[in-house]
Amino acid sequence: MNFRKLTAAIASGVLLATAGTAAADVNIYSYRQPELIAPLLDAFTKETGIETNVLYLDKGLEERIEAEGQNSPADLIFTVDIGRLNNAKEKGITQPVENEEINSAIPAQYRDSEGHWFGLTTRGRVVYASKERVTQDTITYEELADPKWKGKICTRDGQHAYNIALFSSMIAHHGEEKAKEWLTGLKNNLARKPTGNDRAQAKAIFAGECDLGLGYTYYVGLMQTNEKEPEQKDWAKAIKVLFPNSADRGTHVNISGMALAKHAPNKDEALKLMQFLASAQGQEIYAEQVFEYPIAPGTEASEIVQGFGEIKPDTLPIEDVAKNRKRASELVDEVGYNNGPSS
Ligand SMILES: [Fe+2]
Repeated sequence: MNFRKLTAAIASGVLLATAGTAAADVNIYSYRQPELIAPLLDAFTKETGIETNVLYLDKGLEERIEAEGQNSPADLIFTVDIGRLNNAKEKGITQPVENEEINSAIPAQYRDSEGHWFGLTTRGRVVYASKERVTQDTITYEELADPKWKGKICTRDGQHAYNIALFSSMIAHHGEEKAKEWLTGLKNNLARKPTGNDRAQAKAIFAGECDLGLGYTYYVGLMQTNEKEPEQKDWAKAIKVLFPNSADRGTHVNISGMALAKHAPNKDEALKLMQFLASAQGQEIYAEQVFEYPIAPGTEASEIVQGFGEIKPDTLPIEDVAKNRKRASELVDEVGYNNGPSS
């Protein structure tokens, strides 16, 4: 670890050096918890001999790299959600990567057309439905605005990035006006003011407060296997996963992804890591850890994830989702989504 890295480590207090004094470790700034990416990074080090350091941040990652400027030790940015990846690009803290190996492993719909970010795994924004009270086994996003669900739907905050991504996809598919009508319908069907995280919606279904909830697929895996809070297993048991729009355009997905930092001091090694992460092997290790879907051709989700049912992902380029985020956020306010039903 050289002096600059050491300074960063002291300043942050959380830079986790895996080891040693190798001239060129890869420094990763991550919104993803270190234990989730450790198996992946260990496999990379085993294969290449290149060590990695992870700086975990739960907020302000982009601002930090921006403030560090040209002296930033960051090589690679690791994050989830198209909003954050796009934000990193817009802040000018990333640089483009044009690499055949990476591009062939990551379908074009899941990466920035200018190479500033790359998706590695996907998560589907699905409907959690009460096993007890919902008989149907298929659904569409459009149907969530149908008055037949009045008082039956629970979601988290409409401004949360996870919902914004879905609402953005609705704008991309239907145009602003229809999307607004739809969002109004969804709001009118809410059982309560938007509150809690994705898992809280499953909990509310378990508790009988609502019949349908919106949530990501990976939380189902996290609930099913939760030994720390075993009551979450009961929440998971109370729901079935409905993959919206399976019969037409497919289910909206978001990505976890990576970007090469603009001033990456160890660019060659970082590119090797990017290639490894993009590879089928890398994606499968990662996807299994986080209950997500690998996207390289020929890869498969873990058994637990396959147990949710079959996903047919919407083919809308993730970049197009990013474009509509601002408008989606405005619509949430315009329809008073977060005020909940009947206001
Ligand atoms: Fe999450």
